[in-house]
Amino acid sequence: MSEEEVMTNGAAEEQKPDNNAAEEANKEIKENGTGEAEPVAENDKEAAKEMRAVVLTGFGGLKSVKILKKPEPAVNEGEVLIRVKACGLNFQDLMVRQGAIDSPPKCPFILGFECAGEIEQIGEGVENLAIGDQVVALPEYRAWAELVAVPAKYVYKLPKDVSHLDAVTITMNYTVAYILLFEMSGLTQGKSLLVHSVGGGVGQAIVQLAKTVPNVTVFGVCSKGKHEALKAAEAPIDHLFERGSDYVSEIRKVSPEGVDIVLDCLCGEECNKGYHLLKPMGKYILYGSSNVVTGETKSFFSAARSWWQVDKISPLKLFDENRTLCGFNLRRLMYQQNGAEHVRLAVEKVLQLFQEKKVKPLLDSTWALEDVAEAMQKMHDRKNVGKVILDPSLEPKPKPATPAKGKNKEDKKKQLSEEKKDAEEKKEENAKDAKEDKKEDKKGDKKEPVANGDSADEPESKKEPSS
Ligand SMILES: NC(=O)c1ccc[n+]([C@@H]2O[C@H](COP(=O)([O-])OP(=O)(O)OC[C@H]3O[C@@H](n4cnc5c(N)ncnc54)[C@H](OP(=O)(O)O)[C@@H]3O)[C@@H](O)[C@H]2O)c1
Repeated sequence: MSEEEVMTNGAAEEQKPDNNAAEEANKEIKENGTGEAEPVAENDKEAAKEMRAVVLTGFGGLKSVKILKKPEPAVNEGEVLIRVKACGLNFQDLMVRQGAIDSPPKCPFILGFECAGEIEQIGEGVENLAIGDQVVALPEYRAWAELVAVPAKYVYKLPKDVSHLDAVTITMNYTVAYILLFEMSGLTQGKSLLVHSVGGGVGQAIVQLAKTVPNVTVFGVCSKGKHEALKAAEAPIDHLFERGSDYVSEIRKVSPEGVDIVLDCLCGEECNKGYHLLKPMGKYILYGSSNVVTGETKSFFSAARSWWQVDKISPLKLFDENRTLCGFNLRRLMYQQNGAEHVRLAVEKVLQLFQEKKVKPLLDSTWALEDVAEAMQKMHDRKNVGKVILDPSLEPKPKPATPAKGKNKEDKKKQLSEEKKDAEEKKEENAKDAKEDKKEDKKGDKKEPVANGDSADEPESKKEPSS
């Protein structure tokens, strides 16, 4: 049984099998426990059933994301097999696609860290879960498929009234937000916080959870294009600023002393700005590095620049200034640092908050698996307000038919003018980014001296931050 491409998404239409990575992906493979591909033994072939999956065939642009038929996964000891009904798209999936995270698996592999569905099979040694349970899961890759085998420690039973769509809108984003706010920053009544990318999935989760505490002031930054939508959704952001604006001065106009908490998912120059905005006893938490994503593919320049722009701060400085620096990375905590049980408690708390109607997740859009490239592009273009979801049961959007020559002149004219408008918008955006880059480069020269004095042997601090 050979693997066959079920459907190419819009961006992948011109992909030819002469691409090395694509050829790799079209070999017969089966998934092992780590998500890596290995050959299917001859006698396994007949028995293996197939499923649709979103496969990354090579690190890079959208063309490397394909919907392929893959053998259904086997269930190993300690795992459960989930029939997937909804998948969460997270910013880190964009970074994985580019190869911009630490220790990614070898291509080809099935993408995705978040899914919800029904348990179809139970592996040996699994307790507290049963066939037929409705669950949400945070597997290490392989979530974007019709079926996935997940270690039970990353699987959470859904309360009765939580749908699969709700589950993937809540789980990753609100769990991250919950840990950031209530475990790391110690948010309490009357405090103020700065939230970047406030219109996105995690951004909205942070705002809603923060507002469960009385008298909290939220300063939010995001693209101008999202401001109207956030107002319409009645997102409880007290002061909303435009990405790229001088938000530091604007915040100081409202609160001359600065803020108590900075939640930074951008990194780069935002680290220094955030740190210097802290009041005494304030906390800065880095939990992402979106600034390393510039184009469609990985940019070593952006990664290096983002690292270079971050001041190194000595504990002595923190001691004098009464400030705290923290970092949080859910992926590392769960899969590399044995933190699954820690995360489980936070997941249970956020599901309970949802049931109690204390939070109301903001859903941006739902897409068929086949439209995953468009969904990713929307996030990349900074157009999502809230969570982006993939639903394996949805039919893909019909692709626009190419009009016959000489016909539909009006349509063609309209399409051309829309394309022109899009291109102009993109050009404006790029020019704005380039202007910001120049500003950053100039500021890079003004970097503070290394306070802890050891620039030569610091492999840990020199590692690219990852989301
Ligand atoms: N530490 C963790 O464990 C953890 C877990 C989940 C997510 N995260 C981080 O949280 C952040 C938000 O993640 P999410 O999944 O909720 O995504 P999201 O916020 O729903 O979508 C991405 C948003 O990020 C903003 N953005 C910033 N830099 C961007 C860039 N270079 N290219 C495109 N968009 C950019 C855009 O909003 P604006 O235009 O408004 O800026 C965009 O809409 C990400 O940095 C992610 O890595 C961290």
